[in-house]
Amino acid sequence: MTAQLNPRGDVAVLVPAAGAGVRLGPGGPKALRRIGGEPLLVHAVRRIAAAPSVHTVVVAAPPGDEEAVRALLRPVAALTVVAGGTTRQESVAAALAAVPAGPEIVLVHDAARALTPTALVESVAGAVRGGEDAVVPVLPVVDTIKEVSAAGAVLGTVDRAALRAVQTPQGFRRAVLAAAHAAAVDPLTDDAGLVEKQGVRVTCVPGSEYAMKITRPFDLVLAEHLLTAVPLAGHH
Ligand code: CTP
Ligand code: MG
Repeated sequence: MTAQLNPRGDVAVLVPAAGAGVRLGPGGPKALRRIGGEPLLVHAVRRIAAAPSVHTVVVAAPPGDEEAVRALLRPVAALTVVAGGTTRQESVAAALAAVPAGPEIVLVHDAARALTPTALVESVAGAVRGGEDAVVPVLPVVDTIKEVSAAGAVLGTVDRAALRAVQTPQGFRRAVLAAAHAAAVDPLTDDAGLVEKQGVRVTCVPGSEYAMKITRPFDLVLAEHLLTAVPLAGHH
């Protein structure tokens, strides 16, 4: 049976949480690492579940940790937990397969973006509801970006004005995401990339600094500080 949140909602959110967190260093699967005393996955799911449009949440857990993740999330929200795969793409595909009939908007959201505001979930979903096939939250790139050879020589400077850093949640009309995953060959690091390969137009909405991906140890420390220094960090 698939647990649901708001039966009148039209959005399913897939939460890939099965990664090892190699770049974060030793300490177990990243989604289960803690800030403010709670796993990143709990922070992420709490913010998703607070979005009124959300009908269903499906979490892809580290294989073997499904029961532990179910127990962890039971007090947070009614949701479904499946086993993730060896790549993010496989984890998303496994979660997508568990979405019940009903929601026609599907969002994919990294557990590692633990402080993502509920409002960003609603703005991405709203853009899909408004007619877009595929929507990504983006921020301008602040650093100068250079292309560099394997030997460390600078090959050139990229025009930053045309670049955006892409976050999650990424939102899709359900059939568009399903078709993109069905046609997927090589694993990509985001779902919009698969949709682009299908020739579908992907559009941007403003992202949020709070939707930063916790990737390296510095990010974990930063997220911990944001939680304690900023009241209700990421809730707005
Ligand atoms: N993810 C997943 N299944 C995988 C790999 C990644 O569900 N096989 C999830 C992660 O749990 C994370 C999100 O995809 O929430 C983004 O991936 P990333 O930040 O790369 O996390 P990890 O793969 O865990 O980290 P690393 O690459 O450093 O090992
Ligand atoms: Mg990874």
